Amino acid sequence: MSRVVAEDYSRSRDSSTMTFHTQSTPIDSNSHHLQPPLSATATSPTLGQLLKNVSDVHRENTGDGSETPVHQVLELESTDLEVPRSIRFVLSFNNLTYSVKVSRKFKLPSILPSRNTHLLGAATDSDPIRGESLFTTTKTLLNDISGEARDGEIMAVLGASGSGKSTLIDALANRIAKGSLKGIKTLNGEVLESRMLKVISAYVMQEDLLFPMLTVEETLTFAAEFRLPRSLSKSKKRLRVQSLIEQLGLKNAAKTVIGDEGRRGVSGGERRRVSIGIDIIHDPIILFLDEPTSGLDSTSAFMVVKVLQMIAQSGSIVIMSVHQPSYRILGLLDRLIFLSRGQTVYSGSPTNLPVYFSDFGHPMPDNENRTEFALDFIRELEGSPGGTKSLVEFNRSWKNLKHSRNGEGEPDRGGLSLKEAISAAISKGKLVSGATNKDAVSPNSMVPTFANPVWKEMTVLSKRSFMNSRRMPELFGIRLGAVMVTGFILATVFWNLDNSPKGVQERLGFFAFAMSTTFYTCADALPVFLQERYIFMRETAYNAYRRSSYVLSHGLVVLPSLIFLSSAFAATTFWAVGLDGGLSGFLFYFLIVLASFWAGSSFVTFLSGVVPQVMLGYTIVVAILAYFLLFSGFFINRNRIPPFWIWFHYLSLVKYPYEAVLQNEFQDPTKCFVRGVQIFDQSPLGEVPAPLKLKLLESMSTTLGMDITSSTCLTTGADILQQQGITDLSKWNCLWVTVAWGFLFRILFYVSLLLGSKNKRR
Ligand SMILES: Nc1ncnc2c1ncn2[C@@H]1O[C@H](COP(=O)(O)OP(=O)(O)OP(=O)(O)O)[C@@H](O)[C@H]1O
Ligand SMILES: [Mg+2]
Repeated sequence: MSRVVAEDYSRSRDSSTMTFHTQSTPIDSNSHHLQPPLSATATSPTLGQLLKNVSDVHRENTGDGSETPVHQVLELESTDLEVPRSIRFVLSFNNLTYSVKVSRKFKLPSILPSRNTHLLGAATDSDPIRGESLFTTTKTLLNDISGEARDGEIMAVLGASGSGKSTLIDALANRIAKGSLKGIKTLNGEVLESRMLKVISAYVMQEDLLFPMLTVEETLTFAAEFRLPRSLSKSKKRLRVQSLIEQLGLKNAAKTVIGDEGRRGVSGGERRRVSIGIDIIHDPIILFLDEPTSGLDSTSAFMVVKVLQMIAQSGSIVIMSVHQPSYRILGLLDRLIFLSRGQTVYSGSPTNLPVYFSDFGHPMPDNENRTEFALDFIRELEGSPGGTKSLVEFNRSWKNLKHSRNGEGEPDRGGLSLKEAISAAISKGKLVSGATNKDAVSPNSMVPTFANPVWKEMTVLSKRSFMNSRRMPELFGIRLGAVMVTGFILATVFWNLDNSPKGVQERLGFFAFAMSTTFYTCADALPVFLQERYIFMRETAYNAYRRSSYVLSHGLVVLPSLIFLSSAFAATTFWAVGLDGGLSGFLFYFLIVLASFWAGSSFVTFLSGVVPQVMLGYTIVVAILAYFLLFSGFFINRNRIPPFWIWFHYLSLVKYPYEAVLQNEFQDPTKCFVRGVQIFDQSPLGEVPAPLKLKLLESMSTTLGMDITSSTCLTTGADILQQQGITDLSKWNCLWVTVAWGFLFRILFYVSLLLGSKNKRR
């Protein structure tokens, strides 16, 4: 008995005559002695039956609104599955050519006319660079590549480093901008549209970009939440996750955290399989993988490819690049494309390799690893004067010869058009997210672009983010520590300031420093945002959620921690420094600190969207914040700033909170900051004995004709604000402007994500 997953047909047909597609064969992750996989699925039902199933499924959807085709774990006799299966999906690509312009290195002979003119635009066959203009050359990364991949099979792209494997995978996965790639890609004879491919395929990157603090099971559960339709019940999603965990051989690691450099988590091979799992949660029809085995030991690599083989046998097309497959892995591959400098030097099955090379006149020694021999031989040819031209041409003629001999030119698609094939696949449980659209008239509309509405996406994103950060309390701890230490230092340095002219100066200094600190402490978050950005790019590349949901939830999730930080900072400093305003003054002070934390974190978030590296990010944050402080109005009054710099004053994020706290502090009209003889405090006359100061004051008052005594108030809070040039905005307006800055940077962050995360080559 083996456990396979199939959808619930029970209402529409007799289960004994049903066909199931193999979904999972458990792998014991502790041993590499693997069970042979279930060989493919049973015969496809007729077209009529398939479409009836589709309509049954749709009827169920529209009926009570909650049903979708369901992956169910069923116990089946494995003998039921040993029936040959007709091919339903064929991805063909013809004459794929991709060139990029590279700037020319200036070598004297290439600029000046010389006898060695072949250097200008060198067109030797071994060199893909062909000259174009004086400043740029065109480098052909893919040169006329054709081939075919079928469901149930793994197609592997092989070649030396730099031969163009990743480029070919990118070309097939639609990760190259439209205008740049020449050639035709069709699925079941129909040209593959970008949107369509996005929905029915998945691309697994070479890097494992995962949240380090989530367990394997949680990671896959979140993927299920993102990519499986909302109408699918929680228990069914859980079932799908469990079957996937089993299929990927991750049972023993399900409860282990992913981990990162600092924390031990799952092994490299397991992490790889989790990455694959995330992308196949919705059971895509085409799966692209760039070097899924790189960095893994041979056992882990074998297990990964074994998993891929099972995915293929469940009715998917699997296309992967691989560096040097071991002998055992080679046995799992169905088709190979060997590349050399962007050209095909062999395409066909692994078993034909020896015949191919002996036909070419270089027979393979029996005891040699086939791929190693092929790669070594290709490398040798690349180094020879003629290059691989002869092999490229031989491959072309050899293929033609083989085709005419075997008559395998037209692939057998079981007579299904693309729409029918996709319908059939959906009815068999493929593309889980796609099976809910009741108005399915074309393959495009069969599958909604996003599985969930915005609010659901936001909920799941926020939940995941909270979960991850809750398990990394040290990250928040460091930020809190930084804020508290700064608060403590400020509180002790500016302890209990008085209302003397000196005290006023110190208050100004305290506010300027405190308001810029809130921005500086936000820079801590830069690396976290940057790390997350790559996960975001991976997830949005295939429409796991909307970018807007991400930006919204990102903004929401930071709020609780900002509120905590602001209250800690405000409480530590407000009373210790002796700020004015009582409870309402404190509340406003807290709000403005919170607003500047908000603006600061939005600013850093925006930077993480446009700056790709941490160090560069820090440099920019520090530099810009220094300028903000310079132009805030503390060092130089607004009316003293040169007119050509005044715009920076208004851009300064520190200006608004600084002005707000000053107004909060000096708004009380009954308070006096310079009284009587204190007028001499900030001048050289400050050292004069007190009785003399009184006399001076008297004579001043007679000279001026004013009655100035030692108790007369000479400077009120309003005067201080006037002196500081704080006249244009009220304190509440300053608060709103600071909050608005925060929103503006969030919007800019969104725009940067829209523009910067296309994930496509040009
Ligand atoms: N934008 C580009 N401009 C110029 N050359 C490029 C560009 N992108 C890729 N290349 C070159 O194209 C060639 C193929 O790159 P590709 O990444 O496809 O190689 P690969 O076979 O995947 O190598 P590896 O096994 O090391 O991953 C390389 O020589 C690479 O330097
Ligand atoms: Mg590569």
